Amino acid sequence: MRTYEIASIPGDGIGVDVTAEARKVLDEAASLHDFRLRWTEFDWSCERYARTGSMMPEDGIARLAGFDGILLGAVGFPGVPDHVSLWGLLIPVRRAFAQYVNLRPVRLLPGTGSVLRGRSAEELEMVIVRENSEGEYSAIGGRHNTGQPSEFVLQESVFTRVGVERIIRYAFELARTRDGRLCSATKSNGLIHSMPYWDEIFAEIAAEYPDVKSEQCHVDALAARMVQHPERLDVIVASNLFGDILSDLAAAVTGGLGMAPSGNINPPGEHPSMFEAVHGSAPDIAGQGIANPVAQVLAGAMMLDHLGETVAAQAVRSAVDAVLEAKEVATPDLGGTATTEQLGTAVTGALLAP
Ligand code: NAI
Ligand code: MG
Repeated sequence: MRTYEIASIPGDGIGVDVTAEARKVLDEAASLHDFRLRWTEFDWSCERYARTGSMMPEDGIARLAGFDGILLGAVGFPGVPDHVSLWGLLIPVRRAFAQYVNLRPVRLLPGTGSVLRGRSAEELEMVIVRENSEGEYSAIGGRHNTGQPSEFVLQESVFTRVGVERIIRYAFELARTRDGRLCSATKSNGLIHSMPYWDEIFAEIAAEYPDVKSEQCHVDALAARMVQHPERLDVIVASNLFGDILSDLAAAVTGGLGMAPSGNINPPGEHPSMFEAVHGSAPDIAGQGIANPVAQVLAGAMMLDHLGETVAAQAVRSAVDAVLEAKEVATPDLGGTATTEQLGTAVTGALLAP
């Protein structure tokens, strides 16, 4: 039987609850489609940090290297600064495994509403291709003249030719498989070094894809367009910071953070890719068992796609659609009273045999 070795890192807060439900759904999908997911669970989290002083062990990256995929819940918890949890686990994994694409598809799911009134599912479907390995999320910089009136900090961005070219090329290729439209997020009026460079490379690569209708848009105007004219957007390529912000906005306009998945992808497949919900550990509802597990289940479906189990992946998405459409089992963010576990069980039960 085809067997995939999967690392599970539930992390903190609701990450733990939603990952348990995603595993349940994925295991059932695997059994219906004649393959197996062999899970290895790691307790890497803020709780571990509080106990041992580190989010993951010294050899954490080496221990993940042999897996076929990684399913991550979320990390972050009050008491541990967010830059510690992010730079102690998530960012090292993304960088060590050259997961330079952060793919964030969003669509309006059946039975759910958008905050944008009167918008149909066709108008609210897009995918954000976020650069995931460099850009504004850089450790270069520092604090100087600490405590003096002249105190200042420097935070540098890093844009390499290799890094910018590969993410833009990935987005063009993706646009070709969809409806052939690509918008690049820029801000070359304010950021006078990095963004003109990004735009220049975008124009160079656009010339190689005359069949793709490409344009660039300042990120602030793009944010407004996402709300006012989402139908004019399909694939969006953006730097690390811009992509992070735009994808939360895209998730919000399509029905909420509880339903937006993401993949940290190493396109050549030399290293494992990592799949996670866009949302975080939601300390405000952690421990109550009421988080919506759909984002994490859909992240699991992206992992199945990446493993080549595309039929099973589609079956998972159809099961989610069927449960949301029926509106019988819904967590509080969807207007219901169901628990995380009840929604996970309903999706598992809605999986159809091939
Ligand atoms: P968040 O995404 O955890 O929560 C934002 C809001 O959305 C909260 O009101 C929360 O209750 C709600 N929400 C999120 N997911 C939900 C779900 N599945 N079902 C129902 N409601 C949901 O973002 P926030 O509050 O900014 O961050 C909380 C912690 O998570 C921080 O420590 C942050 O650093 C961390 N974080 C971790 C991420 C990761 O591991 N990739 C990503 C984003 C945040
Ligand atoms: Mg984010």
